[in-house]
Order: sequence, then structure tokens, then C-alpha cells
Amino acid sequence: MNIILIGPPGAGKGTQASKLEDERGMIQLSTGDMLRAAVAAETEVGLKAKAVMERGELVSDEIVTGILSDRLDEDDVQDGFILDGYPRTPAQAHALDALLAEKGMPLDYVIELVVDEAALVERITGRFTCADCGEGFHDTFKRPKVEGVCDVCGSKNFKRRADDNAETVKQRLEEYRKKTAPIIPHYEPQGIVRRVDGMASIEVVSDAIEAILDGE
Ligand code: AP5
Ligand code: MG
Repeated sequence: MNIILIGPPGAGKGTQASKLEDERGMIQLSTGDMLRAAVAAETEVGLKAKAVMERGELVSDEIVTGILSDRLDEDDVQDGFILDGYPRTPAQAHALDALLAEKGMPLDYVIELVVDEAALVERITGRFTCADCGEGFHDTFKRPKVEGVCDVCGSKNFKRRADDNAETVKQRLEEYRKKTAPIIPHYEPQGIVRRVDGMASIEVVSDAIEAILDGE
């Protein structure tokens, strides 16, 4: 099964994609994670993307679509994937249609995480991840079980994203409202759009997504 998780910054796309990966063996395809990896590795793409991401703006459609297209050719994604953070513009939605048609991959659901924007700044500014295994945490909503130790791998190294500050979040939300939210109607005629209340707890949101994927 192949799905898109769509929603503003902090809606819980990454959190839910990672749960689906653990529980269903689907592969999380986060263009944000791919770009951050490129920035860290100082590749040509990373050098172009770094400042754009730190301003909370969108990286060019060509760069992001190029990265995603290459990733869709890898073996592990053939049994099911979750797109997290792509498509984000009308041009990317059209490019994805063409890519999936060319590669013979269906799109089963577009799941929108519906959230109250006022909660997003707190979600984002409180977020941190394990620097070694990537497990996500939150200062208030998901603290490690043992203070300062990753639940998954036991590491004591954590990191925060360069774009996770209140100022940049405003710009990211603006980009979402102007460029990303308008692509949801593109999928309505196919009857595959579903909405989930993203303000519920992480577990309740996860159950709602699982129910959709189980056709309930
Ligand atoms: P990207 O990495 O995609 O960031 P984003 O869309 O801004 O979304 P976030 O990762 O901030 O939020 P999320 O929905 O994943 O929330 P999370 O699950 O972590 O993109 C970053 C940048 O890369 C962009 O600004 C752009 O520059 C570039 N980029 C990426 N893709 C691109 C594209 N296609 N085109 C162009 N540019 C692109 O949750 C947030 C926090 O809340 C966590 O701490 C979590 O624990 C907590 N939380 C989650 N769910 C709940 C819940 N239900 N209740 C309470 N807390 C919760
Ligand atoms: Mg994310």
C-alpha cells in the first residue's frame, strides 16, 4: 500500500510515518529527512538546500522531485511506502502523478492530519531526536522513559533541527497554507482523501490511520 501523509509542520507526519514503518513494514519517504542528510553530507544538493531550509522556505521542485524519483527506484519501497513531506506544491503533485504512472505504482490514500495551528509552535519547538538512531521525542509530549537516554538505542546524544524555532515555523506554516494545502483537492476526484484529527494523542491518531489502511 502506498500513501501520502499531508499536514502542516508539526502535524505529526514523521511521528506517524515512523510508527507505520515499525508496525507495517512500509517505508517512510521523508523528503525533509533526505534533504537534511544531504545538508549534513555537504553534497551539491545539500549546499543548495541549507539556507533555503533554514529560512523555512521550500527547496526547488526540480531538486526534491529528482531525489524522490531516485528513491522510488530502490527495491525496499516496492512493497509499500509513506510519502512524508512530498508533494508540497501543485508542480510536485503533477510530477508525482507522472512518476507513479511511469513506475507502475498505485496511490491508495492521501491522509490529511488536521491540526490546530496554535498547537504547532509548541510541538515543533519542543521536538528533539536521538542523534544515533533518529527516534523522535518531545519536551512535553514524548519524553524518554529514562531522562537523557534514548528509549530505542540507549544513546545519550540528542539533536534539534536548525529550522525548529518559532520564527522559521511561521514561514513554514505560511508556505504550507499558500502552496501545500491547495493540492489536497487535486486528489478528491480519485476518492482517496481521508482526514484524521491530528490533535488527538499520538496513539489515537495512529489507530485512526490504521483503521483507514485496514479499510474500516
Ligand atoms: P520537513 O522535514 O518535511 O518538515 P515539516 O513539513 O515542516 O514537518 P515537520 O517535520 O516539522 O513536522 P511533522 O509533521 O513531521 O511532525 P512530527 O511528527 O515531527 O521539511 C523541512 C524543510 O525541508 C521544509 O521547510 C523545506 O525547506 C524542505 N522540504 C522538505 N520537503 C520538501 C518538498 N517536498 N519540497 C520543497 N521543500 C521541501 O511531530 C512534531 C512534534 O510533535 C514531535 O516532537 C512529536 O513528538 C510531537 N507530536 C506528534 N504528534 C503528536 C500528537 N498527536 N500529540 C502530541 N504531540 C505530537
Ligand atoms: Mg517531519
